[in-house]
Amino acid sequence: MNANPGLRLVERDASGVDLAFRSDVLLGLSQAQKAIPARWFYDDAGSQLFEDITQLPEYYPTRAETEILTNRAAKIADLIGSGRAVVEFGSGSSVKTPLLLSAIRPSAYVPLDIAGDFLRASSAALAAKFPGLPVYPVEADFMRRVELPAEVADLPKLGFFPGSTIGNMIARTATDLLRSMRETLGEGALLLIGMDLVKDEAALLAAYDDAAGVTARFNLNLLARVNRELDGDIPVESFRHEARWNDPFARIEMHLVTQDDVTFTVGGERFVMQAGESIHTENSHKFTKRSGQTLLAAGGWEPRARWTDEGSQFSLVLAESRPPRSAP
Ligand code: AVI
Repeated sequence: MNANPGLRLVERDASGVDLAFRSDVLLGLSQAQKAIPARWFYDDAGSQLFEDITQLPEYYPTRAETEILTNRAAKIADLIGSGRAVVEFGSGSSVKTPLLLSAIRPSAYVPLDIAGDFLRASSAALAAKFPGLPVYPVEADFMRRVELPAEVADLPKLGFFPGSTIGNMIARTATDLLRSMRETLGEGALLLIGMDLVKDEAALLAAYDDAAGVTARFNLNLLARVNRELDGDIPVESFRHEARWNDPFARIEMHLVTQDDVTFTVGGERFVMQAGESIHTENSHKFTKRSGQTLLAAGGWEPRARWTDEGSQFSLVLAESRPPRSAP
């Protein structure tokens, strides 16, 4: 799965440096609270580590969402109806996407992703699993309105955005994305979206700081990537992974905390950090029924149905695109 929440087209300089990566890192490291956007986790090693995270005993979201899709398939199918074009925001998961497609019998499947190689490979695997289902991969940045293939223009649409990737965005970005999704899918579209739930703090911290240290490796891999791709010399061994619960914002934050006073350069610029300072690398917002509904409403989507797993850890919401209204 490509969990990259901030997809964008790649522009490189003459030496092959990803310009957006460089400017995000240099800007982020210049702030008082240093920060690097989470989308940069997903190089090859990071994508593999994320796959490993989804298998961890402490990381419940993938299992819980799969449980919902399995146990509620009949009801979900009933409300969605057959014959829709399923538009997935991201290349699709090898487990969740087939569960949905088998349940609802769509007329077409349109995965949207900026990572072309990833998109082509996962689309081919999916097409082999569902012979007879037209698959139209579109290489695009789904943070903006995407032109869908003419073949699906007249079909009713279902957007699919599992995994609670929406939770990796601050409210403003999440709202922009939900609005873009409306523009991409059109009036009357449905959206099936995963939203992770607020729960016991200890369970949340364990999910983002597992005993085997996989999430720590995922987080620290970002520094290795900066060093490799941006000619950096960050002393990675001075940093440790930390997961924090930020209660006012109802989110898990991941940080890389330096245990020593360090000085390093990245892309020719020099940075200084004192022991105990951190680089903030990810937000993972958790929702209640109300906060999820409010976010969806801000993006122009009205919830029609909502399911949770047996342990009430995770929610899957079916929402409908609503025309703007000014009256109550
Ligand atoms: C991709 N995203 C929904 C994951 C999450 O749970 O926020 C990324 C992740 N970060 C650490 N573990 C998993």
